[in-house]
Amino acid sequence: MKLTTLAAIVAFSVTSINALCLLERDATSLATNFGKLVSNYSEALANQTLTPDFQDYSESVNTLFDAGGDSPIPLLAETFSSRAAFEGASAAQPAVPFAVKQVWHNCDTITVRWESAQSPKPVIGISVMQTRMSFSFPNPPVWQISEVWGEFDSGAWLTNLGILKQAAAGKMKRELAFQA
Ligand SMILES: *[C@@H]1O[C@H](CO)[C@@H](O)[C@H](O)[C@H]1NC(C)=O
Ligand SMILES: *[C@@H]1O[C@H](CO)[C@@H](O)[C@H](O)[C@H]1NC(C)=O
Repeated sequence: MKLTTLAAIVAFSVTSINALCLLERDATSLATNFGKLVSNYSEALANQTLTPDFQDYSESVNTLFDAGGDSPIPLLAETFSSRAAFEGASAAQPAVPFAVKQVWHNCDTITVRWESAQSPKPVIGISVMQTRMSFSFPNPPVWQISEVWGEFDSGAWLTNLGILKQAAAGKMKRELAFQA
């Protein structure tokens, strides 16, 4: 094989690999759709945005489901193990305000910093979204979210729900061990 041919093949492969990276507009539109799944949920949008084997991990969401306790969902357990599980829970939840504040992305993950402007306390969260290009002929390939790792101020959220009382919160122990 001539060296120039080999060089052309290498150049082509590199271009193809780059073409399989998220573009700015892909990251922005997935971040926007992710927000709409919280503020204006629809199953059609969930199907469009999430892979069928979607997984979601969030101790903050588990804490909300547990109303500040540690059951029925163990705090460190996976929150949703499929898109269908996410859809079942989302359809049952009231919509909440959700605004995307910042978006960063690399080739296949998107990090979103968001705010849910609740009352009386605002809730800030950060979600890291693993994405994958999905092919379903004859539709054009689309980027979808396959995993979300997100945490937020569930203390503020529980206060807004009236579950965590401020007087009780003031008495909470402050000596918490933190290990990175
Ligand atoms: C919510 O989504 C529906 C489609 O499911 C759309 O018709 C409506 O305009 C959206 N509302 C807002 C406030 O974005
Ligand atoms: C969403 O996808 C499921 C299959 O995963 C399908 O049963 C359902 O009808 C779809 N819903 C909408 C609104 O397209």
